[in-house]
Amino acid sequence: MNTRDFRHRSIRWLAPLSLWGSLIAPAIAALPVVGRNDFAGSAQCAACHRDIASVQTTSEHARSLRKVAGIPGLAQALPLRFSDQDNGVEYRIERSNRPEFAFDLVAVKGQRTERLRLIWGFGAGRKGITFVGRTDAGEFGESRVSWYPKINGLDITTGGEPENVSNAHGALARWFEPERRKACFACHVTRQADVSPDRIEEANAGVRCERCHGPGGKHIEAVSRGTGSGDLAIGNPGKLRATEQLQFCGDCHRLPSEDFSRVILNKATIRFPAQRLVLSRCYDESEGRLKCTTCHNPHEDLAQSPPYYDQKCRSCHASKVSLGSLCPVSTQNCVSCHMPREPLMKHADFADHWIRKVRTAHP
Ligand code: HEC
Ligand code: HEC
Ligand code: HEC
Ligand code: HEC
Ligand code: HEC
Ligand code: HEC
Ligand code: HEC
Repeated sequence: MNTRDFRHRSIRWLAPLSLWGSLIAPAIAALPVVGRNDFAGSAQCAACHRDIASVQTTSEHARSLRKVAGIPGLAQALPLRFSDQDNGVEYRIERSNRPEFAFDLVAVKGQRTERLRLIWGFGAGRKGITFVGRTDAGEFGESRVSWYPKINGLDITTGGEPENVSNAHGALARWFEPERRKACFACHVTRQADVSPDRIEEANAGVRCERCHGPGGKHIEAVSRGTGSGDLAIGNPGKLRATEQLQFCGDCHRLPSEDFSRVILNKATIRFPAQRLVLSRCYDESEGRLKCTTCHNPHEDLAQSPPYYDQKCRSCHASKVSLGSLCPVSTQNCVSCHMPREPLMKHADFADHWIRKVRTAHP
C-alpha cells in the first residue's frame, strides 16, 4: 500500500464532540471540574446495573491501576531481581521495611543503595506492570524497571532506556514533574488525577463507570424520581458517531491522526488502535458504521477468540451482496491474517488495527 492512496481522504474524524463528551475525558487536561460533586461512585451504579458491573469490576480497564498490595502474584514472585549490565545497576523488589508500605524497589549502583516505596501498580498484568512510588524524602517517580508476569521477571520499563543512570538515584525511577505525574494518572483513574499519588482514593483507581459515562448523580436522581421525561441524564458513548467515538476512546488510546504517512511509517503506532483503524478501507468505505464498539464490548476484557471476531467481520463481509467483499482465501480466523499481532515492546505484542491484506502489503 502506497501512502499516496490516502490523499483523497478527508479529515472525517474532526467532528465536534457532543457537550457531555467534552466534559468527560480530556486525558491530559484536568478531569472534569464541572459537576465534580455529582460523582456517585461505581458501587452505586452496581446496585442497578449488576451484570455490567460484575464484568467491569474485574476488567483490565478497572485493574489498570491498583495498590501494590492488591496485585495478585506479586508477593509470591519475590524475590524479584534484575541486573542492568549496561549501566551496572542491580535491582530487586522486596518486602518493605516500613509497615505502611508493602514492597520496595531497591537499586544498587556502586556504593549507593536507593529505595522507592511502591504505592501503585500501573497495568492490569497482561503486559507489564510499572510501579509508581515515593522516596522517604517525598519524591515521586515511575520505576525504571517493570514486572512482566509473562516472564515472571523484571526488565527495563518500556521507554525507560535513555534515562540518566549515572547514579543509583537516577537509576531507580523516572522522577515526576507535576505535569507528567498528572498525565500519567489521568488515563488510569476515574477521577482525582490531579492530587498527589498518595492521596488518590483506591475507589477512583482504574477506568470505572463515570470515567466513560460522566458523573452519575443526576442520572440516579432522574431514574429514581421516575418522571418518565425520558432524559436519563447520563452519557452513552455507544451513541456517538464513529468519528466522535474514535476520539472518545482515543483520548486514552491516543487520538486518530490526519498524518497518514507518519502513522504508516512508524510501526510504534500499532499500539494506537484509532490511528491504525482509520487507515483501513473497512473504516473509510463503510459510511461511519465501523467504530470501536463494533468489535469491542467496552465493559469486558478482550474476546481472545477467533469466532467472536469472525462474526464481526461477517457483519459486513458475509456474501457477494454485502457491503464488503468476500475473502478468496478463508472463511474463518480472519484477524490472524488481516489484523496480525506484532511484537512492539518488551514482552508485549499488539493487534494491528489497520485491517488489510497484510501479506501483500509487506511481501
Ligand atoms: C436506581 C437505579 C440506577 C442506578 C443507581 C444507576 N442507573 Fe443507570 N440506568 C437505570 C435505568 C432504569 C436505566 C434505563 C434503562 C436501561 O437502559 O437499563 C439506566 C440507563 C443507563 C445508561 C444508558 C443510557 C442511554 O442513553 O442509553 C447508562 C450509560 C447508565 N444507566 C449508566 C449508569 C451509571 C454510570 C451509573 C452509576 C453512576 C448508573 N447508571 C446508576 C438505573 C440506574
Ligand atoms: C480513561 C482512559 C480510557 C478510556 C476513555 C478508554 N480506555 Fe480502554 N484502556 C485504558 C487503559 C489504561 C487500558 C489498559 C488496561 C491495562 O492493561 O492495564 C485499556 C485497555 C483497553 C482494552 C484491552 C482490554 C483487555 O482486556 O485487554 C480494550 C479492548 C479497550 N481498552 C477498549 C476501549 C474502548 C473501546 C474505549 C472507548 C469506548 C476505551 N477503551 C476507552 C484506558 C482507557
Ligand atoms: C494518554 C493516556 C495515557 C497516559 C498519559 C498513560 N497511559 Fe498507560 N496506558 C494507556 C492505555 C490506553 C493503555 C492500554 C493500551 C496500551 O498498552 O497502549 C495503557 C497501558 C499501560 C500499561 C500496561 C501495558 C504496558 O505498557 O506494559 C502500563 C504499565 C502503563 N500504561 C503505565 C503508564 C504509566 C507509568 C504512565 C505515566 C508515565 C502512563 N501509563 C501514562 C493510556 C495512558
Ligand atoms: C471504557 C469506557 C466505559 C466504562 C469504564 C464503562 N462503560 Fe458503560 N458503556 C460504554 C460504552 C462505549 C457503551 C455503549 C456500548 C455499545 O453501545 O455497544 C456503554 C454502555 C453502557 C450502558 C447501556 C447498556 C448497554 O449495555 O449498552 C450501561 C447501563 C452502562 N454502560 C453502564 C456502565 C456501568 C455501570 C459501568 C461501571 C461498572 C460502566 N458502564 C463502565 C463505555 C464504558
Ligand atoms: C474490526 C474489529 C475491531 C475494531 C473496529 C476495533 N478493534 Fe480493537 N481489537 C480487535 C482485535 C481482533 C483485537 C485483538 C484481539 C486478540 O488478539 O485477542 C483488538 C485488540 C485491541 C486492544 C488490545 C491491544 C492488544 O492487541 O493487546 C485494544 C486496546 C483495542 N483493541 C482498542 C480498540 C479501540 C480503542 C478501537 C477503536 C478506535 C478498536 N479497538 C477498534 C478488533 C477491533
Ligand atoms: C462496518 C463494516 C465492516 C466491518 C465490520 C469489517 N469490514 Fe472489512 N471492509 C469493509 C468495506 C466496506 C471494505 C471495502 C470494500 C471491500 O473491498 O470489501 C472492506 C475491506 C476489507 C479488506 C480489503 C482491504 C484492502 O486493503 O483492500 C479486508 C482484508 C477486510 N475488509 C477485512 C476485514 C476483517 C478481517 C474484518 C473483521 C476484523 C472486517 N474487514 C470488518 C467493511 C467492513
Ligand atoms: C490464511 C489467511 C487469511 C484468512 C484466515 C483470511 N484471509 Fe482474507 N485474505 C487473505 C489474503 C492473502 C487476501 C488477498 C488475496 C488476493 O489478493 O488474492 C485476502 C483478501 C481478503 C479481502 C479482499 C477481497 C478482495 O476482493 O479484494 C477481504 C475483504 C478479506 N480477505 C476478508 C476476510 C475475512 C472477513 C476473513 C474471515 C472470514 C478472512 N479474510 C480470512 C488471507 C486471509
